[in-house]
Amino acid sequence: MRPVEISGKRLGLREVTTADVDALHAVYGDPAATEHLPFDPRTREEVEEIVAEALDAAGAAPRRLYVLAVTETESGEVIGVARLHIEADHPHSAEIGLGLRPDHWGRGIGTDLIRLLLTFGFRHLRLHRIWGARSPANTAAQLAMLVAGMVEEGRIRHHVRARGAWRDSVVHSALEDEWEGHRDD
Ligand SMILES: CC(C)(COP(=O)(O)OP(=O)(O)OC[C@H]1O[C@@H](n2cnc3c(N)ncnc32)[C@H](O)[C@@H]1OP(=O)(O)O)[C@@H](O)C(=O)NCCC(=O)NCCS
Repeated sequence: MRPVEISGKRLGLREVTTADVDALHAVYGDPAATEHLPFDPRTREEVEEIVAEALDAAGAAPRRLYVLAVTETESGEVIGVARLHIEADHPHSAEIGLGLRPDHWGRGIGTDLIRLLLTFGFRHLRLHRIWGARSPANTAAQLAMLVAGMVEEGRIRHHVRARGAWRDSVVHSALEDEWEGHRDD
């Protein structure tokens, strides 16, 4: 399996390595970045485990999980993390997740990142459907997904358990045949 390496105008996506643990911890361990995610801020050790699992998953055949470092094209610095998980029973469909370091929020990078993930999923992996679930309160994720062309398709009630309570999710999706108009190249 060829390692993933994709570059857009401002951002790139590449396989995570053990050298990325601190950069990923700056997202997964940050209280603001995890506020709307269904888990508490991760410890560095937990992030080490996530990276180890990602490396295992990268070697699986067929490969279902992609955990990718989000890099700034100009500097190569890792500023976030993205996941794409192909459904075992529906291999035409994958769920995406993403997080950026808070000091990079609010400049359109989240929207660019979603566009890049859609390009990766539709063009490179030949998927048909790509979806993401967000907290109803996560306005930044809502707007980024909408602007990138991911249609809001409905609400899953009590989808996740977060901080001791049930939480609904709002699902967005993009379909391969609708995506052409939103491509970023
Ligand atoms: C979600 C996330 C990736 C968005 O990244 P970002 O780079 O800040 O997003 P963008 O700059 O592309 O902004 C997207 C839109 O949201 C708006 N926005 C950004 N932050 C906002 C906020 N806190 N409240 C309301 N709107 C906000 C922007 O104005 C923009 O709208 P516009 O295109 O109409 O101007 C980022 O906030 C993040 O990493 N959050 C933590 C992890 C997370 O929640 N991941 C998503 C899980 S589904």
